[in-house]
Amino acid sequence: MGNGFAEIGDRHRIMGPESKAGRGMSEQLYDLMSTQRAIRRLRPDPIPDDVLERIMQAAVWAPSGGNLQPWRMVMVTDPELRATLGGLYARRWEVFAAMYRKRIAAAPPEEQAKEERTIAAGDHLGNHFGECPVIAIVCFNPDRMAVTDAGLDRVSVVGGGSVYPAVQNLLLACRAEGVGSVLTTLLCQDEAEVKALLGIPDDWYTAAALPMGYPVGGGYGPIARRPVQDLFFRDGWRRPISGD
Ligand SMILES: Cc1cc2nc3c(=O)[nH]c(=O)nc-3n(C[C@H](O)[C@H](O)[C@H](O)COP(=O)(O)O)c2cc1C
Repeated sequence: MGNGFAEIGDRHRIMGPESKAGRGMSEQLYDLMSTQRAIRRLRPDPIPDDVLERIMQAAVWAPSGGNLQPWRMVMVTDPELRATLGGLYARRWEVFAAMYRKRIAAAPPEEQAKEERTIAAGDHLGNHFGECPVIAIVCFNPDRMAVTDAGLDRVSVVGGGSVYPAVQNLLLACRAEGVGSVLTTLLCQDEAEVKALLGIPDDWYTAAALPMGYPVGGGYGPIARRPVQDLFFRDGWRRPISGD
């Protein structure tokens, strides 16, 4: 592909993560991760093929159970297909946004204003979903997954672990390339229509739809997440991760 990946990998292997160059690469990775937020305002301009190739390659590098890679992505670029997907997404978003607005109605004004900004971005995506130059439809085949929690009396999540790491790799690669995207799942509700539209075989299903395009305005930036100590414990549930 001649995209320079081998060279980057070699440099890291040869110099090691402790070297100055290695440290620089780690810092860059953390910087990309900590600014990889949901981008819902996307321009219709095309994404060059070489950029898309690198992004797809990054998705392929993701781990999966038994390395079976039980996922495929249909990269939808045809304007008519995108318009159809856009129409389906818009309908789902409208219903979701109405519920979302109802849910935040009683929240304090400051929180409401923050949520309203997210909803406004969602409204924009809902109105322009089909205009994004690429929509990646993420598919999976459960027959090719070792779903170790399938027999438990709760929602099964293990299968997704062989799909969403590829999605996250793709999102991070988008971030690295300056391409905007957001993981969306509302379209999964229209799985039958999406499968018929794209000729997805009976034994494959949909896990996500990723609209992709260059961001309108600034795009990527700081993200709000809970602190590490809220989400990590040491040696037992709710036991603090740090000693202080
Ligand atoms: C499983 C999953 C499903 C999501 N579905 C949608 C969706 O259908 N539409 C949408 O606009 N955003 C969707 N999102 C994006 C989340 O709302 C977003 O990642 C989260 O609010 C954090 O946003 P931030 O990265 O900008 O802080 C989804 C994210 C995940 C992980």
